[in-house]
Amino acid sequence: MVLRGEAIPLARPVIGDLEIERVLEVVRSGRLSLGPLLGEFEREFARRVRASHASAVSSGTAGLHLALRAAGVSDGDEVVTSPFSFVASANVVVYERARPVFADIDPVTFNLDPDAAAAVVTERTTALLPVHIFGYPADLTAFERLGLPIVEDACEALGAVDADGVPVGGRGHPAVFGFYANKQITTGEGGIVTTAHAALKQRIDSERNQGRAPDMDWLDHDRLGFNYRLSEIACALGLAQLEHLDRLLAGRERVAAAYGEALAEIDGVELPCQEPAPLRRGWFVYVIQLPRDIDRDSTVRALGARGIPSKPYFPAVHLMSYYRERFGHREGEFPVCEDVAARSIALPFFPEMTESQVERVAESLREVLGR
Ligand SMILES: Cc1ncc(COP(=O)(O)O)c(C=O)c1O
Repeated sequence: MVLRGEAIPLARPVIGDLEIERVLEVVRSGRLSLGPLLGEFEREFARRVRASHASAVSSGTAGLHLALRAAGVSDGDEVVTSPFSFVASANVVVYERARPVFADIDPVTFNLDPDAAAAVVTERTTALLPVHIFGYPADLTAFERLGLPIVEDACEALGAVDADGVPVGGRGHPAVFGFYANKQITTGEGGIVTTAHAALKQRIDSERNQGRAPDMDWLDHDRLGFNYRLSEIACALGLAQLEHLDRLLAGRERVAAAYGEALAEIDGVELPCQEPAPLRRGWFVYVIQLPRDIDRDSTVRALGARGIPSKPYFPAVHLMSYYRERFGHREGEFPVCEDVAARSIALPFFPEMTESQVERVAESLREVLGR
């Protein structure tokens, strides 16, 4: 085992004095939920992505669930989505007893391929659920041509700008962001849905709060709802994080650029694709593709032994045991996704990662791959 220096974390949020002060203020105020910071966080977030409205919720998954319900997805419907994603984007379809219909991905961007998606649309398709994977904007212009409701999974994509120069979240479709601790900003757990439509915000605001309409009394509910509320403590954290969003995003961009240089010379390793301006990735993770003749799992283990955590990112959703059993999926259905999923590893990546840590990762990888 060759452990040089301290172990490097896979991800690490940047939490400073501002976050701590804001959280303490809330705790001292005694107003811990449904207070003034909820609206403040929503307005500030919407402003950042140029959306008209935003509804904060308890997680990205909760936001996707409510956005799909608002798109009218229910029993027996089909929703076309990507098999190369975190499992939540497919799970939320199943929550509504609808069927996630997968289509293959683009081999360069790893996003759902619009032509493959178009080929699986049927009369039962109620919505499209493209994922901005690893923060790379999906081709919304192509999906819009299909004329179906769209819910954007933007959980990984804060800070991204699409090919038309529109910030992800600002296009008008419901777009859902996640604030788990590895995301561009974190509230511990949390999420938000942005939208151009006041009526959609109103519905989501009600459904996140047990189905209570805004003008109703405390225990009066006119629809089925959930407890998907985001606490004031989480909103305080989110507001503080938004104050230095530019710095957080710039940190991620700097680390990605450093990786680009440090890994460029390693034979056979494929790096994240370029971003043709004005498109910009909202850097979330740094995922590379290993050469086909390399055993991915033993690479992950050998890096781990050197104090470098890494992980397969992502396994294909359709090949997870639940999806195989429930929907009968098998290997070979989505060859591009399966090839990418088999070769991907996420390397340590966070805004305050130093150039020398990046160098150490690159050096260890070169050593482990013997190149
Ligand atoms: C692509 C994608 N979709 C959905 C989610 C779910 O978000 P959360 O963990 O906040 O529920 C995540 C994040 O973990 C994600 O990466």
